[in-house]
Amino acid sequence: MLLLAAAFVVGFVLLLYMVSPLISPKPLKLPGAHVVVTGGSSGIGKCIAIECYKQGAFITLIARDENKLLQTKKEIEKYSVNDKQVVLCISVDVSKDYEQVENVLKQAQEKLGPVDLLVNCAGTSVTGKFEAIEVNSFERLMAVNYLGSVYPSRAVISTMKERRMGRIVFVSSQAGQLGLFGYTAYSPTKFALRGLAEALQMEVKPYNIYVTVAYPPDTDTPGFAEESKTKPLETKLISETSSVCQAEQVARVIVKDAIQGNFNSSVGSDGYMLSILTSGMSPVTSITEGLQQVVCMGIFRIIGLFYLGSFDSIVRRCMMQREKSESTDKTE
Ligand SMILES: NC(=O)c1ccc[n+]([C@@H]2O[C@H](COP(=O)([O-])OP(=O)(O)OC[C@H]3O[C@@H](n4cnc5c(N)ncnc54)[C@H](OP(=O)(O)O)[C@@H]3O)[C@@H](O)[C@H]2O)c1
Ligand SMILES: *[C@@H]1O[C@H](CO)[C@@H](O)[C@H](O)[C@H]1NC(C)=O
Repeated sequence: MLLLAAAFVVGFVLLLYMVSPLISPKPLKLPGAHVVVTGGSSGIGKCIAIECYKQGAFITLIARDENKLLQTKKEIEKYSVNDKQVVLCISVDVSKDYEQVENVLKQAQEKLGPVDLLVNCAGTSVTGKFEAIEVNSFERLMAVNYLGSVYPSRAVISTMKERRMGRIVFVSSQAGQLGLFGYTAYSPTKFALRGLAEALQMEVKPYNIYVTVAYPPDTDTPGFAEESKTKPLETKLISETSSVCQAEQVARVIVKDAIQGNFNSSVGSDGYMLSILTSGMSPVTSITEGLQQVVCMGIFRIIGLFYLGSFDSIVRRCMMQREKSESTDKTE
């Protein structure tokens, strides 16, 4: 009898231990909150800013081009829900100088109060075959996509810890979940954000700060249009196996997940599958999320193998066609 009771108690304690990381955070209240969006003057970042503004937040937009910032400010202000709301614009390169980033964020916090939500969305991409990408592009992408997310986060984290509240979003990519043809310069910068996010989340969770990593699919934005101009054929064909999303839709999902404090944020059925497959040792924020990962992992790996097979065959076909056209060129 005593043994049974002891076993019961031990079992109960073990269960609590397992469930404790699964307790969901309290949702962030957006009305009156200060939201900073880097890369907020275009594409996904702009739509995230609009979504937060519509829900009553005060916004700071960060990007380099001042004209684009002012134009976006005007566009966002159309969606105001009360007359106290402010959109502040800051022109700075998030990847160059940490002191400068720290200074402008200090100024923004003096004007609009401490940052409640930081969305690191500034980013850029270069595609091409490994040997065709300029060496300095590898450095530039790491600077903008990775360090450009480290600097603003590092600049706001101490205040968030003091206040024991805050949210930080890193905008990665589906190319930050798997490596695809043409993305040797881009993918590593987006994978890096995941490592940063996992380590940072473990540090700041006791301070009631929650980190979200978003993995958008191909999304219709000015940045995407620019990237598409120089994409290798293989990369295009692989991308075409899934559809292009609207920036508004992607932004809505990211804002919802940031409010809830979810570690992962993904869009669509491919996005769902990738989020399960790459959950690895990442933090979980709800019991249902953990259960879905445990149950679906194996079957999704099988489906994933079919995807990989079809990508490999696209790459092989393109190579064969290229060789064939080269040899006919020679004989002519
Ligand atoms: N679109 C997609 O298909 C897709 C898919 C997955 C992930 N993503 C990621 O989502 C994010 C947004 O993408 P998007 O397509 O919306 O891009 P976008 O339309 O090109 O917008 C990029 C934004 O970042 C700013 N920016 C770029 N470099 C900067 C720098 N060094 N310092 C400060 N601001 C900078 C740009 O303004 P300035 O040029 O004026 O500085 C602009 O506001 C990126 O991180 C991208 O990698 C996009
Ligand atoms: C990841 O986030 C999306 C919503 O953004 C959700 O639908 C999905 O279930 C999450 N994936 C996992 C593994 O929890």
